[in-house]
Amino acid sequence: MEVKESIFRRQLVDVHGVPLFWSIAEEWAQVETFQARPDDLLIATYPKSGTTWISEIVDMIYNDGNVEQCKRDAIFNRVPFMELIIPGMSNGVEQLDMMPSPRLVKTHLPVQLLPESFEKSNCKTIYVARNAKDVAVSYYHFYQMAKMHPEPGTWAEFLEKFVEGKVAFGSWYDHVKGWWEKRRNLPLLYLFYEDMKEDPRRELQRVLQFLEKEVTEEIVQRILHHTSFQEMQKNPTSNYKMISTAEMDHSVSPFMRKGISGDWKNHFTVAQNERFDEDYAEKMKSSTLAFRMEIPEANMPEKT
Ligand code: A3P
Repeated sequence: MEVKESIFRRQLVDVHGVPLFWSIAEEWAQVETFQARPDDLLIATYPKSGTTWISEIVDMIYNDGNVEQCKRDAIFNRVPFMELIIPGMSNGVEQLDMMPSPRLVKTHLPVQLLPESFEKSNCKTIYVARNAKDVAVSYYHFYQMAKMHPEPGTWAEFLEKFVEGKVAFGSWYDHVKGWWEKRRNLPLLYLFYEDMKEDPRRELQRVLQFLEKEVTEEIVQRILHHTSFQEMQKNPTSNYKMISTAEMDHSVSPFMRKGISGDWKNHFTVAQNERFDEDYAEKMKSSTLAFRMEIPEANMPEKT
């Protein structure tokens, strides 16, 4: 127990200008030399942007909509987190090395830190981006429950760190912009969480097309149902409840928290919002990327 306690709540460590968990920094050589394979599918995201959601969708596609097959193991074993190395707990590089092809690979790395074998292998990548305000709120709650992160402090303190990029995996702004540019030289599908909320069927069709998969209408319906927030929230193989409480404490804040767009309005003060918007405009002005901070109610799919 003493050993495990010393693993958690440690300061982040700088890796080529990006703050990462201390244990990833220590084992960086392993991550850097990770061997991608041409038939890998890389799922890249900034944390809290819908990684688990898209992972479940893709695993369902790979398994022809077979729900039982997708319940074979927890999401973090079906789609290993490549750079996550925690001594005695997990090693994404080793896990993936032992995995038969075709592999689904998860990463939160900003594009400039991606191991070079990915570009060489030319494997497909799906990137999911979510608006910065909802990510900040979701990340604040996640910092509280997932103990590999340093203590988040108050919401105001955390928001400051988020804006400055002093959180795990660095600046949201650089992350979304960096991967956006990368779509020019990688076979990359760039998705938005807000689009997935607005029209899950449309976005699923885009994923199917990108993966060159044809499935029946019945399978489409099964995938949409199985990957809805309500289903994933109660599914132990997708809600992260199979992870040790020492690592993630769902009683502090559940991993499947709200799953909505626009929750930031319940957390940002008017002053915080104004400052955030001003800084946002400056940081994002060089990019053609456009995010929606909420989805109009009228655009939301009917609840079934
Ligand atoms: P909230 O904390 O806002 O609820 P990631 O998987 O990248 O860590 O992202 C987690 C966020 O995605 C959480 O956001 C979680 O609730 C949300 N999420 C997970 N599955 C979802 C789904 N099927 N539909 C909508 N949101 C989902």
